[in-house]
Amino acid sequence: MGAYVGGWLATAPEVEVLLVGRQRLADAVAAEGLVVSQGAREERVRQVQVATAAAALAESDVVLCCVKSRDTEAVAKELTEILRPEALVVSLQNGVRNPATLRAALGAERVLAGVVGFNAVLRSAHEARQTTDGDLELEQREHESARRLYAALRAGGLSLTTHRDLAPRQWSKLLINLSNAVSALSGAPTKELLVQAGYRRILAAVLREGIGVARAAGQPLARLRGLPVGAVPMLLRAPSWIVRLALGLKVDPKARSSMAQDLERGRPTEVAYLNGEIVRLAAEHGATAPLNQRLVELIRAAEAAGGSPSLGPEAFWTALHEREDP
Ligand SMILES: NC(=O)c1ccc[n+]([C@@H]2O[C@H](COP(=O)([O-])OP(=O)(O)OC[C@H]3O[C@@H](n4cnc5c(N)ncnc54)[C@H](OP(=O)(O)O)[C@@H]3O)[C@@H](O)[C@H]2O)c1
Repeated sequence: MGAYVGGWLATAPEVEVLLVGRQRLADAVAAEGLVVSQGAREERVRQVQVATAAAALAESDVVLCCVKSRDTEAVAKELTEILRPEALVVSLQNGVRNPATLRAALGAERVLAGVVGFNAVLRSAHEARQTTDGDLELEQREHESARRLYAALRAGGLSLTTHRDLAPRQWSKLLINLSNAVSALSGAPTKELLVQAGYRRILAAVLREGIGVARAAGQPLARLRGLPVGAVPMLLRAPSWIVRLALGLKVDPKARSSMAQDLERGRPTEVAYLNGEIVRLAAEHGATAPLNQRLVELIRAAEAAGGSPSLGPEAFWTALHEREDP
C-alpha cells in the first residue's frame, strides 16, 4: 500500500516522495523505477527514493504509515525519535487500533486516521497495482500539511474523501475485512468469493455476527457503497447476478486480500486486529462471536502450517462450525 499510494503521490507536482521499505524494494526501484497502475492507467515513476531505515524521514512533513498492525507500535516508537514536532503521521492501515497506537506515542494532534477502500497487490518487487475500486478516506483536519496532503493525493489521481468523524467508516471497513480470513483460508481470489454462493453464505454469516456485535456495543457504522451495512449480509445471500449488479464492484480476477498474500508468503497475518477485534468487543459486552473466534483459530493453524488449507465452500462451512477441543 505504501508503494502504491507513494507512487501516485510522486506524480503530483511539487511533491517529493521517499519510501521506507526493505532492501528488496530499494533494489528493484533503483533498477526499474516504481510502476503503479490502476485499470488502464500505468506510470513508471523514476523520481521516488527508497530508504531502508526510518531515520531518512527526519525532514518529512507527512509520513504515511503503511506497515501491518503488528508493526505499528515499533514504528511509532521509532518515529517519536526522528520526526520534526510539526510532522503529520497518517495511518493507512486496516483495523481500528492503529491511529490510537500512533497517537499514544506521537500525540493526538499529529496523527490522522485513514481508511483505504480498495485493494492493491505487488505484481513484482517494484510494481504495485490497484485491483478493486474504492476511495481513500481520511480524517478532515485544518492543518497546513493535511491540506497539502489532500491536494497532492487528488493531484496524483487518487479518489479521496475527507470526514470529520472517521470511526464509523473504520468500523464498517473492519466488518468488510472480516472476509479477509475467508479469502485467506479458501485461497480463492476475491472475485470467486463473490461469485460462488457457498462462499457468500460464509461471508454473510461472519459479517452478520460482526454487525450484531458492533450494534450491541453501540458502535455507529457508516454506509458501504451507499448501502446500510445491515443490508450487505442479505445481499450476499441473493443470486450471484444480483450481487454483481448491486455491488457494482470492479474486481480484478487476480485480486486477493492482503491476509491471503500474508499466508502465501508464510507471514503472520492481521487476524488479531480484524476478526480478533470483534471477538474482543463481544467479550467486553458479555457476549461471544463464535464464527469470528473460529476464523481466528483456523488462521492461526494455517500460519503454523505455513500456508492456506484452500478450503472449498462445503469443507469451510463445516470447519467454521466445529469447535476446537477444550
Ligand atoms: N494491500 C491492500 O490491498 C490493503 C488494502 C487496505 C488496507 N491495507 C492495510 O495497509 C497496511 C499495509 O498492508 P500491505 O498489504 O501494504 O502490507 P505489506 O505488503 O506487508 O507491506 C508492509 C511493508 O512494510 C515493511 N516494513 C515493516 N516494518 C518496516 C520497517 N520498520 N522498516 C522498513 N520496512 C518495514 C514490510 O516488510 P516485512 O514484510 O519484511 O516486514 C512490508 O514490506 C495493513 O494494515 C493492511 O491491512 C492493505
